[in-house]
Amino acid sequence: MGIFTSSTTAIPEALEIPRHVAVIMDGNGRWAKQRFLPRVAGHKVGVENVRSMIKHSVNIGVKYLTLFAFSSENWRRPAEEVSFLMGLFMEALKKEVAKLHKSNVRFVMIGDRTKFSEALCYEIASAELLTKSNTGLTLTIAANYGGRWDLLQAMNAMQKANPSLLGNYNEEHLSPYLSMSFSPEPDLFIRTGGEKRISNFLLWQLAYSELYFTDTLWPDFDDEAFKLAIQSYQQRERRFGRTSEQLVAT
Ligand code: IPE
Ligand code: IPE
Ligand code: MG
Repeated sequence: MGIFTSSTTAIPEALEIPRHVAVIMDGNGRWAKQRFLPRVAGHKVGVENVRSMIKHSVNIGVKYLTLFAFSSENWRRPAEEVSFLMGLFMEALKKEVAKLHKSNVRFVMIGDRTKFSEALCYEIASAELLTKSNTGLTLTIAANYGGRWDLLQAMNAMQKANPSLLGNYNEEHLSPYLSMSFSPEPDLFIRTGGEKRISNFLLWQLAYSELYFTDTLWPDFDDEAFKLAIQSYQQRERRFGRTSEQLVAT
């Protein structure tokens, strides 16, 4: 098993402040459309909003913040939008990494890097290397990430490492190879932009996460909106399969 409790093999601690928040930052395009701006203008403002989300997470004591920036299906978008998004990612890395490092943030990227340019791979790897020993917030950016890709690459790696166990694998064998093996499972999942779906985000890891959906578009998702999400999380009863009575007893 990894360093963290799996919600299905043991009962995790239900904490007042979520230890891990995972976010689908959706609604940039519609935000721009409402203002008669091109979609990419929404992405630009969206990146700025990431900065305030990081600050607020640090302030309230969230330890892991995972942001879905680009899905494995987002390549289906118009080529100009895809290349704008790649450029924006590159620019943000160059501009922000020194500041993140100064704030003791550990930066990690999850997703399939093989489709990225050499220059982008280099920026990502340098950012990870620079910040790898930081002990504050762990900021994970999911880029060219897909939950199915994650499961498949983990299964293949697990099988390669333990060929003799074929047919007898369990969670303990798989978990070290999942992209987020360095992190506890998300306590709170937030999706902005009104859609009620997972869109191939963390399929394995969201097994027992509390789900929060809001119509607020990502560029408008401010500290106040984040507070509402945390408040909603705090009202949930996290039973992990047990009964309410059992919870009261513990
Ligand atoms: C989310 O905003 C950002 C990415 C997927 C990169 P969208 O671009 O999906 O915005 P909408 O959903 O079209 O409004
Ligand atoms: C999910 O948003 C991916 C990211 C926010 C990066 P999408 O806008 O791609 O999701 P769908 O297509 O509406 O499901
Ligand atoms: Mg969208």
